[in-house]
Amino acid sequence: MRIISICNQKGGVGKTTTAVNIVSGLSMAGKTSLLVDLDPQTNASSYLGYRDNEPHKCSYTILENPSKINEVILKVNANLDLIPSSLSYLDDPGPREGDNPFDHLRESFEYLEKNYDYIIIDCPPSLGSYTFNAINTSQEIIIPVQCHYLSLEGLSQIVSLVDDISEVKKLKFTILLTMFEENEGLSEEIKSEIDKHFSNNLFKISIPYDITLAEAPSHEQSIFDYMPISCGAVAYAILVKEIIDGE
Ligand SMILES: Nc1ncnc2c1ncn2[C@@H]1O[C@H](COP(=O)(O)OP(=O)(O)OP(=O)(O)O)[C@@H](O)[C@H]1O
Ligand SMILES: [Mg+2]
Repeated sequence: MRIISICNQKGGVGKTTTAVNIVSGLSMAGKTSLLVDLDPQTNASSYLGYRDNEPHKCSYTILENPSKINEVILKVNANLDLIPSSLSYLDDPGPREGDNPFDHLRESFEYLEKNYDYIIIDCPPSLGSYTFNAINTSQEIIIPVQCHYLSLEGLSQIVSLVDDISEVKKLKFTILLTMFEENEGLSEEIKSEIDKHFSNNLFKISIPYDITLAEAPSHEQSIFDYMPISCGAVAYAILVKEIIDGE
């Protein structure tokens, strides 16, 4: 079971788009996958068509009571399951009380009845309690970075957090460039800057800026169903292959 979190405290960098399209690609490749929506904005859940999720049957439920995990799993298709999030927790900073509050998600996975090939966790744009729970249970972190100048500013923060945690547990991080614009000065500049510092921790494929990726959620379809012949779909298919090959 490979557990991968999609994290960046910066908002709007493509975490949810990446999480949903990765699990869709993995499930199409025959891998049994579970998507955990850990963001109270519920974007990943609504992307897949699950809105108005009950507050006592969502990802927060298992942060409070890890043994309930099997009760909150929804079946999306033959290979893809979802633990949705609920808007009720938008103002809630997540668990901070009790024994090891950042360990609850990891504990809940010990109760899973199904052995998934992949668990993908979509994190909120913060380095708070939800993201700590996600990082604590993952073996790998994918950090989507939008090809904008300001995106570099927060990157060192999350990388140093991952480095600190790597001292106590095995944790690999890989940066994914998103909304990349070919032949556009700034995108190329950011790519070469990141490549200079993190060449061993950068996916070979960059996700291009592609408006069909922004349209797909309103159709509740992955990019592979919505627009299979698009540069966004091709890039995410290559990313899924990179992930599978990186096993
Ligand atoms: N490669 C892309 N090309 C064009 N639009 C994109 C691309 N990736 C994401 N988007 C759009 O950019 C917006 C932000 O993307 P997304 O919601 O995936 O980011 P996020 O990091 O999950 O945001 P948040 O931090 O709020 O959770 C969305 O409207 C999405 O449809
Ligand atoms: Mg998101």
